[in-house]
Amino acid sequence: MKRIVGKKEILMVLAMALTGSMNAELNDNLFPLINNVPGRSTLSLNGQWDYIIDRYGTGYYDYRLKPSSNGFFRDQQARSESDLVEYNFEQSPDMFIPHDWNTWDDELKYYEGIVWFRKVFDPDRKEDKRYFLYFGAVNYNALVYLNGTYLGSHKGGFTPFNFEITNRINDGNNTLIVMVDNTRDKDEVPTVNTDWWNYGGITRDVMIIEEPETFIIDYSIRLSGDTYKEISGWIQMDGSNLQIPVTVEIPDLKAEVTVVPDESGRAAFAMKAKPVLWSPENPVLYRVVISTPGSTVDDLIAFRHVEAVGNKIHLNGKPVYLRGICIHEEAPFRQGRLSTPEEARTLLQWAREMNCNFVRLAHYPHNEHMVREAEKMGIMVWSEIPVYWTISFDNPETLGNAKNQLEEMITRDRNRGAVIIWSLANETPVSDARNQFLTSLVHYARELDDTRLISMAMEKQYRDRFTPVIRDPLMDVVDVVSFNSYIGWYDGLPEKCARMNWDLNTGKPAIMSEFGGGALQGLHGSSSQRWTEEFQEELYRQHVAMFEKMDLAGTTPWILMDFMSPRRLLPGIQDGVNRKGLISNNGIRKKAFYIMQDWYKTK
Ligand code: GCU
Repeated sequence: MKRIVGKKEILMVLAMALTGSMNAELNDNLFPLINNVPGRSTLSLNGQWDYIIDRYGTGYYDYRLKPSSNGFFRDQQARSESDLVEYNFEQSPDMFIPHDWNTWDDELKYYEGIVWFRKVFDPDRKEDKRYFLYFGAVNYNALVYLNGTYLGSHKGGFTPFNFEITNRINDGNNTLIVMVDNTRDKDEVPTVNTDWWNYGGITRDVMIIEEPETFIIDYSIRLSGDTYKEISGWIQMDGSNLQIPVTVEIPDLKAEVTVVPDESGRAAFAMKAKPVLWSPENPVLYRVVISTPGSTVDDLIAFRHVEAVGNKIHLNGKPVYLRGICIHEEAPFRQGRLSTPEEARTLLQWAREMNCNFVRLAHYPHNEHMVREAEKMGIMVWSEIPVYWTISFDNPETLGNAKNQLEEMITRDRNRGAVIIWSLANETPVSDARNQFLTSLVHYARELDDTRLISMAMEKQYRDRFTPVIRDPLMDVVDVVSFNSYIGWYDGLPEKCARMNWDLNTGKPAIMSEFGGGALQGLHGSSSQRWTEEFQEELYRQHVAMFEKMDLAGTTPWILMDFMSPRRLLPGIQDGVNRKGLISNNGIRKKAFYIMQDWYKTK
């Protein structure tokens, strides 16, 4: 049967229409990512946006599936009783952005497709300023229009992007329209199969950033290696007058240095300083002010040093055991995508209550609120791009997409001292194409940031019935060997743990990055009855006993809280929810929570 026009063809038509060339990529017209948006002069566009559900792409294509010049991005209204306009944002429903559409509108719970969003705003424009439109994240493809004309596009559901709009905004009201498409595709990142909900929409903050003509667009600032007596980094300027003096000041350290950028606008700096080092026990943050005669950026920086030493992870020169927990970006109590600092703090406080000093933010870069709140609370962070399961490892465009998401993740959080591990994949099946793909990502991650540890979750194998080993070609290129293992859930029953004789002599730190099992909170029975809290509790009891015989650098049980997944269909037990949480999605601790809480007290 002739294949109907598929997503790839539609996107290619879309790309061609947008730019007139067949090989145009989405990620079009992006401005280099502006770092530390919370520390800048911004106007929030959060709040009520109009939205139109567009199941057939009517807002973009004509009936011959050609891009229409009269799409919804024109925001037309009938001017007379005879006018023909078949949509109306004014009369369409509202959504409070940031928010996923699935848990906003019952009609959209399982929806995968196009939704159009509209926001009218007045940026209070000033002649001598530049203006940028910033999205914390949009899942998955975003086409952005301003005042009826195309601005640019972005793909990837969990990283920020921005456009310059200085010459595109009017005095007074401006109309911003975004076409969002969360349709999955095998060549995307992630691919079509994930064990999490495909929450679509404008899921993170939207801001207008106001800057002077020449401004500080990006910077890196950190402890210089393990000297503990020097702080160094670089500043990147943007604008027409790049070689103006830039001052970096840390008032509480009475440290200050002024440098002049080169002709590319880049300036390196170093300053003698002995900061109190950030740690879970003492999460001290220093105010850093970076300024030029016309612009200033404020940040709060955690100065610390992390490294792998043999099979241990060292923080500030001392071995630290990563008492971790995995977390999905799912809002507590209400489900849906987490979107506020308060919701981030709730999840992190639950982790803290379990005596955690580390969170594995799975399986994609989380909201910037989550990373900054973890930093304030003294919780170390594993941050990951969604190269998950069966990615199209032989597709160069897929690799380009993964690299772009990696670069956006590292650019946004480069100065977040709490982040100690960049993770580049999760449970990817070994093949030559996969090994080349991931090795290329490892090299790119190190090129972007050589100060953090690189890891990824691999899978265990068995040398013999009770000797699990990790044998993955990527072990040679990562700094930390992490692996997921579900003994007692997918692999035998909990008592199997007692017979395990792990061979972990990798010469590198090893983290068990996932283990666990499901329980419906409130379901009680014998410890051999699957889905009871007692079964889950016994599984965790068996695991902590097993850990006492292993030489791990850290553990991150799967997972802090139950989360929505279309894969989890057992009626009366799962009902679209993955129940491996140690806490239910309405915040009730299950019995296994206390097994981890007690064991972590001993680490
Ligand atoms: C996998 C995977 C998780 C998934 C979990 C599970 O290891 O990494 O994303 O949710 O196991 O099966 O619940």
